[in-house]
Amino acid sequence: MAYQTLIVEIEDNVALVRLNRPEALNALNSVLLTEMGDALANLDANDKVRAIVITGSEKAFAAGADIKEMSEKGFVGMFKADFFGDATENFLRTRKPVIAAVSGYALGGGCELAMMCDFIICADNAKFGQPEINLGICAGIGGTQRLTRFVGKSKAMDMHLTGRFMDAEEAERSGLVSRVVPTAKLVSEAMAAASKIAEKSQLSAMVVKEAVNRSYETTLREGLLFEKRMFHALFATEDQKEGMAAFLEKREPQFRDK
Ligand code: HXC
Repeated sequence: MAYQTLIVEIEDNVALVRLNRPEALNALNSVLLTEMGDALANLDANDKVRAIVITGSEKAFAAGADIKEMSEKGFVGMFKADFFGDATENFLRTRKPVIAAVSGYALGGGCELAMMCDFIICADNAKFGQPEINLGICAGIGGTQRLTRFVGKSKAMDMHLTGRFMDAEEAERSGLVSRVVPTAKLVSEAMAAASKIAEKSQLSAMVVKEAVNRSYETTLREGLLFEKRMFHALFATEDQKEGMAAFLEKREPQFRDK
């Protein structure tokens, strides 16, 4: 897969998607977001790939949506094109687990892109922020909604209204990221986490992803019912038989996604 703004590599069963616009600190433009949707659709359809890591450079995961591209736009054009609407829908269609590996700046749309992933591992130099207010706009691809769910109303309001950045330590303390690792080890740690996921039954992994994401979309009662039914459904799989037999026989399971 050759892209203008992304580098996609597959190592064993894990895909690494690297944002590659160093001249603009990986700012998200229409080309990048279209390519991201295309890359994720291809990786989702590729049977060799069992988990995906998205990363940027050491200095920037992504410094936001591309301000140059947006600066001349007007309401009618943005509205008619449903600017970034398709791109985010395409991103969220990915059924395989997606990890954001964030080093440096994850600002505005960059922070929002990281939050669209299933979880975030960050480097100790990471800086998260929603500084759109400094540009006379607000977040546009989930920042007001997702950041609030991650870190609570008070901190989300603080971030969006003051435009201040959150460092890695605060991000972990607030529940925005799952782990902080040394900057030099970020990609290897994220790839190791993805490899660990790749060893599991893909059926279980997809169910976990759907069920956890549903907790943001529905009531507790409906979410619990969805989880219970999916739990029941996994007993129809060969992987459930294999996983439990392997435990009882004190050996490693050989999952076949069946
Ligand atoms: C376009 C960007 C950019 C952006 C950086 N660059 N961020 N270009 N869009 N979001 C470009 C700079 O113009 C510059 O290009 C080069 O990248 C290096 O950036 P510098 O500013 O020189 O680097 P530095 O001094 O280290 O400062 C880093 C920074 C700063 C703190 C991250 O670049 C910054 O504040 N960027 C903007 C952050 C931001 O406001 N993000 C929110 C965007 S709005 P040249 O050509 O001058 O070398 C958004 C809306 C989301 O995300 C809604 C989605 C629809």
